[in-house]
Amino acid sequence: MRLNGKVAIITGGASGIGLATARKFVSEGAKVLVADINLQRAEAVVAEFEAAGSPGATAAAQVDVSKFAEVEAMVQRAVDVFGKIDVIFNNAGIAGGKALLDHDPEVDYAPMIRVDQDGVYYGILAAGRQFVKQGTPGVIISTSSIYGEQAAELAFSYSAAKAAVISFTRSAAYELAEHGIRAVAITPGRVGTPIINQFSEELRALFASEQLRNKMTEPEEIANVVAFLASDESNVINGTVVHVDDGYSS
Ligand code: NAI
Repeated sequence: MRLNGKVAIITGGASGIGLATARKFVSEGAKVLVADINLQRAEAVVAEFEAAGSPGATAAAQVDVSKFAEVEAMVQRAVDVFGKIDVIFNNAGIAGGKALLDHDPEVDYAPMIRVDQDGVYYGILAAGRQFVKQGTPGVIISTSSIYGEQAAELAFSYSAAKAAVISFTRSAAYELAEHGIRAVAITPGRVGTPIINQFSEELRALFASEQLRNKMTEPEEIANVVAFLASDESNVINGTVVHVDDGYSS
């Protein structure tokens, strides 16, 4: 029960890595605001916990992380429901892309930057302000990607946004350390979630073969690391990137 008494916000909490992390956090004793653009799925996740013997451990919130006012309202909702926040997992994201020369900037660049980059910035800002207001320590974990550190096919905008997540993490740790706030980015490789199921079977087999165990990572394997990063056991990990990529970057 490493997260006993802690309150966490998980964006993109209704699916994939976020959902697995919500389950792990609750199993470790945390209260979780499951925040997602898809309210119906977020509410279904909460219903799952209510039915599975964890009444009151979770609440749902609808948020479009690309809108600052909605992110602020999400933080306020966690405070209203659970009394405070201790952890934010900025994890909501979209993927996909086209070859650079085929880009329509309004379609192939702007939306990706708004969700995957601005969304993380807004989460850091809104949660950071709340931690300081509370006068308590806080942990900010944000989901980057292996593509945040290297170029890849059809990933021009995605890579830019995910690189920004790493930069935000370093700067947030630097600026907020005096308030007892830590910031860490994770870089998943290929994780078996709906975001990756949009690609062809052939491409998914290639993705799996590029990891050292020659298989997709399970979302629960990422969640285990996020729980550790959210806990006090990882107090010396700050302002850095934790590679959760099954050796892809080795
Ligand atoms: P997923 O598609 O299962 O989950 C993403 C969630 O984010 C969904 O529930 C979706 O409704 C939500 N979402 C999308 N746009 C949103 C918005 N504007 N506001 C609020 N919520 C929004 O995908 P997965 O894999 O769990 O993705 C989680 C994070 O992991 C993303 O940031 C993704 O870029 C990152 N990632 C995933 C990898 C993978 O192989 N699955 C690899 C590297 C990074």
